[in-house]
Amino acid sequence: MTSEKNIILVTGGAGYIGSNVCKALAENGYIPVTYDNLCSGNKSAVNWGPFEQGDIRDRERLRAIIKKYKPEAVMHFAALIQVGQSVIDPAIYYHNNVYGSLCLLEEMREAGIKHIVCSSTAAVYGTPLSVPIPEDAPKLPINPYGQSKLMMENMISDYSNAYGTQYAVLRYFNAAGADTETEAGSAYKTDTHIIPLLMRVASGLLPEIKLFGEDYDTEDGTAVRDYIHITDLAQAHILALEHIMAGKGNLAVNIGNSTGYSVAQVIEAAKRITGKDIAVAKSPRRAGDPAVLIADSACAKNILNWKPAYSDLDTIVETAWKWRQKQNKA
Ligand SMILES: NC(=O)c1ccc[n+]([C@@H]2O[C@H](COP(=O)([O-])OP(=O)(O)OC[C@H]3O[C@@H](n4cnc5c(N)ncnc54)[C@H](O)[C@@H]3O)[C@@H](O)[C@H]2O)c1
Repeated sequence: MTSEKNIILVTGGAGYIGSNVCKALAENGYIPVTYDNLCSGNKSAVNWGPFEQGDIRDRERLRAIIKKYKPEAVMHFAALIQVGQSVIDPAIYYHNNVYGSLCLLEEMREAGIKHIVCSSTAAVYGTPLSVPIPEDAPKLPINPYGQSKLMMENMISDYSNAYGTQYAVLRYFNAAGADTETEAGSAYKTDTHIIPLLMRVASGLLPEIKLFGEDYDTEDGTAVRDYIHITDLAQAHILALEHIMAGKGNLAVNIGNSTGYSVAQVIEAAKRITGKDIAVAKSPRRAGDPAVLIADSACAKNILNWKPAYSDLDTIVETAWKWRQKQNKA
């Protein structure tokens, strides 16, 4: 807990993860200032601090907002995040995620802001040689989205070496679920992740869920992923921020549950918890989808003393379902 009200600039704070982290920041005594162009996020998700609409690539606007609020640190979530779209149109991914991050780093440097916590992803590892994946596994992204995030990581590390920026890079696996008090959840204009899609099917808003591949080398043949509850993920950001603000050193750590659930298990949990029949459309594997992705999260646990508390599958699906039902009534 901080004793003063420290202002944190949150790029992408109107998105799913950013909005949940803004809630955690406010609960921990910070003032989160959301800077978001609303390309995929929602203004209604900004409830824990001021909102400023803007693009991270608009350096004049960004400079004006930094001058207005004088943030102590930056949390950087703003990015395009759809793997498939990044393959079809890589240019917008490099422009938004790489050039955008460079603009942010430059404006931070000009303003003398020395601390940044930023979102990276399991996609930087590509297809892992083994699981669970430790941080020193080879970084061989297999799509432009993963490449763009790895480039962002490398820029941040180079800025740190040259200009003294202190950073925490958090490589999330699959962020999932909703705030345990149902105050924040999936904020996407269009859902692409399996759990929010399942909740839409259970609500009758979509006809079916697509199951991509039943011939993986896994126990039930469907792909296995590591789902980390959004409240646990948000908590990791607070700990990481406090770690770097206290001068304890740079970090690049995995944030996952270290447990895998198969797509079939997730679908079964969704059926059981919602009590709804969920139609499943069996489809072929998607190119570039590895069989199993599970994080080795020992570093985050040891260095940050981070303890995931809500990341069992039932809690993830229950909170997502409560959030969906709240959205359905709104
Ligand atoms: N959702 C996951 O499971 C997951 C996993 C790994 C990493 N991540 C990373 O977490 C971050 C947040 O992802 P999310 O799931 O909350 O997605 P999201 O789309 O909900 O959030 C991204 C936010 O950034 C904003 N934005 C995008 N480009 C911008 C720009 N140029 N200027 C200003 N705002 C911009 C969007 O409007 C949106 O509000 C991303 O950096 C993503 O790469 C997400």
